[in-house]
Amino acid sequence: MKNINPIFTKSWKKLYKHFLVIKDKHMKDFFLEDVNRFKKFSLSFKDLIFLDFSKNRITDKTLTYLINLAKECGLKNSILSMFNGKFINVTENKPVLHTVLRNFDKKNIFINGKNISKKVFQSLKKMKNISNFIINKKWRGYTGKYITDIVNIGIGGSDLGPLMVTESLTPYKNRLKVHFVSNLDGSHIFQILKKINLESTIFLISSKTFTTQETMTNAKTVKKLFLKNSNFLKSDLSKHFIALSANKNKVMKFGIDKKNFIPFWDWVGGRYSLWSSIGFSIVLSIGYDNFSLLLEGAYDMDNHFLNSPFKKNIPVLLALISIWYNNFFKSQTEAIYTYDQYMHKFSSYLQQLYMESNGKRIDRNFNVVSFQTGSIIWGENGTNSQHSFFQLLHQGTKLIPSDFIIPIHTHNNINNHHIKLISHFFAQTKALAFGNSLNKNSKNKIFKNKEIKKKFFIYKECPGNQPTNSFLIDKITPYTLGALIAMYEHKVFSQGVILNIFSFDQWGVELGKNIAKDILLTLKKKNISNKYDCSTNGLINFYNSKK
Ligand code: F6P
Repeated sequence: MKNINPIFTKSWKKLYKHFLVIKDKHMKDFFLEDVNRFKKFSLSFKDLIFLDFSKNRITDKTLTYLINLAKECGLKNSILSMFNGKFINVTENKPVLHTVLRNFDKKNIFINGKNISKKVFQSLKKMKNISNFIINKKWRGYTGKYITDIVNIGIGGSDLGPLMVTESLTPYKNRLKVHFVSNLDGSHIFQILKKINLESTIFLISSKTFTTQETMTNAKTVKKLFLKNSNFLKSDLSKHFIALSANKNKVMKFGIDKKNFIPFWDWVGGRYSLWSSIGFSIVLSIGYDNFSLLLEGAYDMDNHFLNSPFKKNIPVLLALISIWYNNFFKSQTEAIYTYDQYMHKFSSYLQQLYMESNGKRIDRNFNVVSFQTGSIIWGENGTNSQHSFFQLLHQGTKLIPSDFIIPIHTHNNINNHHIKLISHFFAQTKALAFGNSLNKNSKNKIFKNKEIKKKFFIYKECPGNQPTNSFLIDKITPYTLGALIAMYEHKVFSQGVILNIFSFDQWGVELGKNIAKDILLTLKKKNISNKYDCSTNGLINFYNSKK
């Protein structure tokens, strides 16, 4: 990978000059000046995902300069480096190869002389066999009951991806009830335990490292519960625990049977792991064939990313437009609204993907950056957001670039719900782009005060000029969802490359974990604490005094 500071490139300078010219221009004028905007600034992925990015504060020139920026920063070579297994995760000395997990060409990829594609295939086979056994009621619990419930215990990437996918693909679910426990707060596991019967439940212990405190605490709590039963033998653990991990030793130490260990590997980042055995809850929930389709959708998006010229490359264009707002308009945040009830976890999944990847302040040359890196990512489900925070988008003071996502065909064609939902989707993106033009002379009988009577219209004014990308998805299926997720993965990757940061580590989250370990020891001693700052000592001592 080239380690180029983007702000010292020719393209960045050109972008800045260009920004000064168009920064105050209204989207209305962009559209007036170019009637072909929609045609020009829209793209389709296999006629299944349609992207309209015409409602952005961009012109042909903007795109040319942005694409040149990507070229100057060596994006193409970096993409090839990732797909070919170069050690691009420099700060952890690893390659980044989640794309191998969905490689339907069965192209052999080698790391240090070892064929990793073969291992992927074996792991998939194991997932297929075990899942068929469980779904088809052949797997029995320790009292002979067949399995009715699955509980995935994991956090971060070992939770968010599978949770989001199983929710999004609810219409494809089979008879198994799949639950997720992530929080260290005992209330989470407590609530799930109330819903299930241990005798007919399998717990998936999902952790790449198999050391994460939250996950191991929840896993140990469940193990203890089983062992408390007098007719439960230690050997029965194999009937109720399956491990999804890259740390075989720790899995064995926990007491999980070797045949119940489905591996994945160091070269799969936590937030990119739903395609690996971490996705086993997905396999159990929607069946192996549907999981394959999810992988296939992602694989086809990989090829689109790998082979399309930048001007037709959806993830690259999305990355560039995002850099444009974040660095030139200083927009700070980016929102994603899903107009699909089942996709209600999509934006929280994307939060980890974006913010853990690109929330970095040191560039690839060991320097503190002097520009903006990762944006703040947030969002919610469609119409509900309209009735809570959209007011701020329409009349607030912040620029908030947003992605709107909706299926053309719903899984539940009830009455006229969907056409109404679609109308709101189109209405919001239109209102955000163009705002309204009010009649200043409109008469109003409510107000007696002359000044209010004359000026009140100003409160109704929506200035517009808020950028949006519209995604029309044919239908939310395993295939289209796989492609959509991979599209965002590659967007985030492209941004990291151009912004000259390392997107595949997450050293920042370690600090809090280490301090918590130390504080736990202090709390257990129950002595007056004086080893930290006065605020932390004060809080610890207050807590101890109230216990
Ligand atoms: O704390 C951050 C993190 O390391 C994430 O990157 C990861 O997805 C999560 O914790 C869970 O880690 P593990 O799968 O090792 O339990």
